[in-house]
Formats: sequence, structure tokens, C-alpha cells
Amino acid sequence: MFNTSYIEISQSAYKNNIRYLRNIVGKDVRISSVIKGNAYGHGIGNIISLAERSGIRHFSVFSAGEAYESFAVASEGTRIMIMGYLDDEELSWAIENGIEFFVFDWGRLEMAVDIAKRMGRKARLHLEVETGFHRTGFEYEELKKLAAYLNANLAHFEFEGLCTHFAGAESLANYLRIKNQLVQYRKFVRYLGRHGLHPAYRHTACSAAALTYPTTIMDMVRFGIAQFGYWPSPETHMFRFRKDTSKGDDLKRLLSWKSRVMVVKDVEAGQFIGYGSSFLANKKTRIAVIPVGYANGFSRSLSNTGRVLIRGRRVPVIGTVTMNTMTLNVTDVPGVEKGDEVVMVGKQGRLSISIASFCEMSNQLNYQLLTRLPPDIPRTLVK
Ligand SMILES: Cc1ncc(COP(=O)(O)O)c(C=O)c1O
Repeated sequence: MFNTSYIEISQSAYKNNIRYLRNIVGKDVRISSVIKGNAYGHGIGNIISLAERSGIRHFSVFSAGEAYESFAVASEGTRIMIMGYLDDEELSWAIENGIEFFVFDWGRLEMAVDIAKRMGRKARLHLEVETGFHRTGFEYEELKKLAAYLNANLAHFEFEGLCTHFAGAESLANYLRIKNQLVQYRKFVRYLGRHGLHPAYRHTACSAAALTYPTTIMDMVRFGIAQFGYWPSPETHMFRFRKDTSKGDDLKRLLSWKSRVMVVKDVEAGQFIGYGSSFLANKKTRIAVIPVGYANGFSRSLSNTGRVLIRGRRVPVIGTVTMNTMTLNVTDVPGVEKGDEVVMVGKQGRLSISIASFCEMSNQLNYQLLTRLPPDIPRTLVK
């Protein structure tokens, strides 16, 4: 097998989630599957093939490197959009291959137009505008100059999109800020429209925005975390709960992360287990060692705190999580032996461990934990 743990990706869960999200946005809205961060840890190749089978033909990535990886596996006609970084050389590659990309500053805009002119190809631009997130985006004050520049160069680009990103739509605390961003975004739309500039796709919504602010849905939604079965926050879940999840319509998590028992042994009462003295066996204790540690994505902060599943039972991680191993207390689980399946994330029997419960214990966000799952853990598609 050449690995110490493995990840399974559920195809039926993905289909379920796209069906659920499609219902929310309606049939005419384009869904862009956000697959940055190795598709939130699920593997870019896996998610592109799954998403294409669910009818998705648009993908959003952060960098040219991710676009390159996506382009190699995507079907003919599938669109890829870079939302973040690309350098000048990568810009030529993107334009040549019809990759769409955000422009949020003059340097990139002028360079894109120059390259497109030289190549005799149109650059596929998404104009990102600053509405209050304060990361990237053209300012409203630049619009006059921008509209004039765009109108003078219409032959060299397709106006694919006008976009912005919200500053935390998953939290009610940001309600006013999000509403103000929407107002500001609409001002951009109107100004450009008055100057004859109409984007093919107006898009602002990420998962949380689309799930809780219907007016952010527009022509396209950039769904990241929700397509993988996670709620952006408990608030988002509660908001949808009354509407649909109480009727049985819900997101389902795709990812399970599993390993196997490496060795089982008994430790006498009074002995410390593992490095240092963080766990003292106060009675004769049976331990199982698992070949997964912090180098494999299992946070060291789960030392003496984490839980995993084995033989259908939930058992604690004891002692410190080391670079490549963790130790479980299996004293109360009869019959544990080398080779037994261990579930770090996912279901076993009637029990399950979610990334969310796991994150609360290790103070990490869903997003962070998923994207930190090392890319070399093999991922397989299961039913
Ligand atoms: C610009 C942009 N759009 C969409 C998304 C997707 O967000 P989510 O995973 O919350 O749906 C992200 C993710 O951070 C993003 O940066």
C-alpha cells in the first residue's frame, strides 16, 4: 500500500450535496466548484471528475499552479478560473489556454491586455472590485479610468465576470458589513452598465453567502466548503435548518480518513506512556499504536484529547501525538489486534467522528484541517 493512512471520498455524498445546492441556487445559475487547497484536501483530480459527472463545468482555483493541475484533468470545454496569484509568465499560459482569471490591479490588467494583443487571443477577465473586504479589488474611485481603458481595449478581452468576496458571510456579526458590500457591488454594476460594460457573470457568493443571503446568488456562485458537505458555520446550518435540513435535506460529508493498528501491547500501572509524563497509566492499560502523527495531518494539539473509532467504539488518544504515531487507550475494547481499522474522520458502525468535532478539539477550522491533510495520503473514490 505504501502509506500509513488513506482517505475515502464518497461519490454519493457529493451528488447529494450538488443536488441540495442546485435546489437552493436554481437551475439557471452557474455553479463554480472551488477547488483550491487541493480541493479542500479532497484531491483536485477526484473532485473535477466527480463534479463534471454532476454537471459542473466551472472550477475556481487560487493559483496558476492549481489551474495547471486542473487543466490537465478537466474535460474539453470545462472552464477554470484563477482567483488569486499568477505571475507574468503564468499570465501568458493562462491566456493561451483560455483560463479565466481575476484582475484586481492595473499591472495585471495592462499586462493581460498587452499579452492578449500580441497573441491575437482574448483574455478571459473577471474584474474584481473592492466592496469592503479589503483584500484585493479595484476601488470605486478608479472606475472612470477603468471603464475608459476597458472600452478602448474591447477587442482584447472577454468580460467574463464582475466579482467581489464577502468579509465573513458565515457570521451574523458581519451582517451589516455584508449588506453594505452588496450595496457597493451594485454601484459598480450600475456604473459599468452605464458605460456599456456588461459582465457575462455577476458573482459574489461563496457557500455561506449563497446559503443565507439569497440576493448574493446572481449569475454564478463559487461553492467551496458546502460542496464537500460542511456547513461554513453553525449559524449557517441553523439558518437552513428550519428551511430544509429538518425535512431531511442536508449536506453530507464526503471524506473519511482511516488507518490501521500497528501494534497492541499492555503497560503496567504506574508507567508513563509515550514522551515525557503527560499520561500516567493508573491501572494496567492496553494500548494500540497507530502509524499517524502530526507529520500526517493529525494535530499535536490532540495529544491526550483526540478521539478515534476502533471496533465500533470511540477511544481516546493518550500521551502526546508524535511525528508519525499516536497511541490509543483500548483497555475497554475487547479483541483489538494489529491491522484493525481505525477511523480518524468518518463513520464506523453507528458512531462517527466529524471534522467539526475534531476541529473544536484542536482549535482549527474545518477549512484548515481539511487543507492540511497531506496530499500524499492516497485518496480513493468510494460509492
Ligand atoms: C474568492 C473566493 N470565493 C469563494 C470561496 C469559497 O468559499 P467557501 O469555501 O466558504 O464556499 C473562497 C474561499 O475562501 C474565496 O476566496
